[in-house]
Amino acid sequence: MSTSLTEFKDASTIAQKKPEEFWGKIAQQFQWKKPWTKVLDYDFLKPEVKWFLEGKLNITENCLDRHLSTQPDKTAILFEPNNPDEPSQHISYKELHQRVCQTANMLIANGAKKGDRICIYMPMVPELAISVLACARIGAIHSVVFAGFSVKALSARMNDASCNMLLTSDGGYRGAKTIALKEIADEALLSCPSVNCCIVFQRTNQNVAWNPIDKWWHEEIEKVGSDCPATEMDSEDPLFVLYTSGSTGKPKGLVHSCGGYMVYTAYTFKNVFQYTDNDVYWCTADIGWITGHSYIIYGPLANGATSMMFEGVPSYPDYDRFWEVCAKHKVNQFYTAPTAIRALQKHPTSLVEKHDLSSLKVLGSVGEPINDEAWHWYDKNIGKHKCPIVDTWWQTETGGILISSLAGVTPQKPTYATLPMPGIQAALLDNEGNELEGENEGILAIKQPWPSIARTIYGDHERYRQVYFSAYPGYYYPGDGALRDAEGNYRITGRIDDVVIVSGHNLGTAPIENALNEHPNVVESAVVGFPHDVKGNALQAFVIARTTADDIVILKNELRALVSKTIGPIAKPDRVQVVSGLPKTRSGKIMRRILRKLAAGEYDQLGDVSTLLNPEVVEEIKRQNN
Ligand code: WTA
Repeated sequence: MSTSLTEFKDASTIAQKKPEEFWGKIAQQFQWKKPWTKVLDYDFLKPEVKWFLEGKLNITENCLDRHLSTQPDKTAILFEPNNPDEPSQHISYKELHQRVCQTANMLIANGAKKGDRICIYMPMVPELAISVLACARIGAIHSVVFAGFSVKALSARMNDASCNMLLTSDGGYRGAKTIALKEIADEALLSCPSVNCCIVFQRTNQNVAWNPIDKWWHEEIEKVGSDCPATEMDSEDPLFVLYTSGSTGKPKGLVHSCGGYMVYTAYTFKNVFQYTDNDVYWCTADIGWITGHSYIIYGPLANGATSMMFEGVPSYPDYDRFWEVCAKHKVNQFYTAPTAIRALQKHPTSLVEKHDLSSLKVLGSVGEPINDEAWHWYDKNIGKHKCPIVDTWWQTETGGILISSLAGVTPQKPTYATLPMPGIQAALLDNEGNELEGENEGILAIKQPWPSIARTIYGDHERYRQVYFSAYPGYYYPGDGALRDAEGNYRITGRIDDVVIVSGHNLGTAPIENALNEHPNVVESAVVGFPHDVKGNALQAFVIARTTADDIVILKNELRALVSKTIGPIAKPDRVQVVSGLPKTRSGKIMRRILRKLAAGEYDQLGDVSTLLNPEVVEEIKRQNN
């Protein structure tokens, strides 16, 4: 671990000059069933990336078994339930190991085997983390779908990976609400013929319908023992698929492999958060997102850390829940999203001051650019100016953090993710793909692979090539813009494609448009993001209606409900505007750039609209909004 600026600089130099030596040395700290023969093989043009070639391992041995001799009784997962009156759970490494093995046996007993795809659609209960690790134990590829997603989003993901099995629960708690997960899963399963077994964990005890493929978790688990040897995996075997939004309606299933992912998530966890032995670390993300995969489960457990899992929401039972929980469990590292900070900063600081936050040592931010005001509020009220803030930039595709300061070790700069991690060769490009030097603004690109880069898009390697490696050959293209200061610090300015980050969630506009277009009254639609003071961005849908809807209010409500039902509540547009046409080029392409300006109210920055096929619709939209 780099604990000083000099060590960090040395690590960066070695990682740049001799990446194989650098990563090989780090990888040696793990338990391999068979050593690798070569550290790295890659060609970004193909693209093909392989790390720790021919090495054999099982990631769960590194996350669990390895700690049994040294710290069996240390808490691995600290579970804090949604309801503050329900007791928290301290699950030790020994207990977690036992429960993962038993769950793995339950999966095997129900027909699961190495290479199968198992979809996990569960609330934030320990069994979600246990399911993930149980899949990894037997070499089944887990595909976790965020429990806030709805029917279509779930079925599309299960079908894309031809999942064999679904692990879900009767329902889930989210603040004062209960979510009927099994009901959503049942509807999704109607169009997922590949799934032949559905194991249901009981969380809320609500009534559920029962189908021939359904089995109760608590009944199945009783039938098996807890001795389960870890399946030997090749370093490059897939560990999991995780979907993220793209610029088409079809979600992209990013595939991460076993060896490189383990090494990089563990390395970055330790270095970025400067985790030390007895710390209690809390990442508030949901395991349904990459942040939860890498920095609630794999990174922390590979380091033998105590990782907290929180089932609830920051506003329940009141807007001080985060701070109450930090004080209750004496949290040392706290990692959350700017949207949560912005939502909480709207409430009186007395809600923070009520709680003793003196245990906090490090604060983290992830998922979207953190604005200056939120950064300073976080620093002052939560960190009391004593906790370094790590602003971590990365993606589902990158598997782990690529740009961030190391807490208290490298300099921080408000709103800047700061410096690339050792081994990350970041660059700024102009539109033609020329590298920009020094202080500048441009398109962010990465020059060389790091161990946890996604290896492909499930079932569609060509799309993987096109999306990430074709725009600027020889580089990985993340789809973000950035600026760089004279010291080499990066500030991420936001997406430069059709993905909008709403409350830290990546949303593609295409699937939302597809959902809107399913309404019998909709001819065509276009969805864009606009700035929002809490969510970062919110969505505006421009919709052409088939008939002049008698009641536009009803239509708008129906459309919002339709998006919520098909994709999930997070994708619901804040604004729906019924228009008679959408601005289009002469070749018929919707000019989203103009719609984005209109949604943001930046009427003086529309640029030249005279080349449009139908410039009059721009005037109409402006008029409607005035
Ligand atoms: C954005 C989340 C600015 C970015 C880990 C990226 C950020 C997308 C930051 C990936 C940050 C993430 N500063 N922007 N610290 N972290 N982003 O796949 O646009 O859910 O491309 O991964 O979130 O979102 P994803």
